[in-house]
Amino acid sequence: MTPMSIRVLRLGQRYVRDDRTLTHLCLVSRAMGAECIYLEDAEKDVTATLEEVNRTWGGDFQAVLGRPWREVIREAKREGRHVIHLTMYGMPIQEAIVQLRELDKVLLVVGGPKVPGKMYHEADFNVAVTSQPHSEVAALAIALHEIQSGEELKRAFEKSKLRILPSPRGKKVVEN
Ligand SMILES: C[S@@+](CC[C@H](N)C(=O)[O-])C[C@H]1O[C@@H](n2cnc3c(N)ncnc32)[C@H](O)[C@@H]1O
Repeated sequence: MTPMSIRVLRLGQRYVRDDRTLTHLCLVSRAMGAECIYLEDAEKDVTATLEEVNRTWGGDFQAVLGRPWREVIREAKREGRHVIHLTMYGMPIQEAIVQLRELDKVLLVVGGPKVPGKMYHEADFNVAVTSQPHSEVAALAIALHEIQSGEELKRAFEKSKLRILPSPRGKKVVEN
């Protein structure tokens, strides 16, 4: 079965520096099966970290900076990508999951400090990971895991410099 094509969009301008959150969104997206993340506003440090992670651990995950969110959504819809907005006000993920797993191309949207009201109407699905406030990083990780039925956990990353040999104790890393 062809894996679902997943892209991620992080909404919002930065009111305070939160490059650590942005970096975590990038790392979670990369590790858990997305092909790229769109960040409206981020420091170059975020992309530099990601390039280093790709060089060391493989794959070609991309962070795309500076594209306005409405343009990203328009383009996603043009290419037949379904837009899933993660929000605590949405429908519980466990009720939507059967439908979401049938999609072949998705744009997963997470908010920042302030989510524009229009986003709720632009989305094909507004989905909640519990109806409680928490974090965009946690919501994204759980949504990626649920949508791919856990298949992302088995994924191998190509062209890595280093590879971990999973070990019950200690750290085992080999060069490729
Ligand atoms: C820290 S929250 C702030 C949300 C903001 N107060 C607003 O206007 O909605 C940042 C993002 O985390 C995600 N998030 C937080 N709790 C969530 C939940 N229970 N389910 C799904 N996503 C959630 C959403 O994408 C949200 O936009």
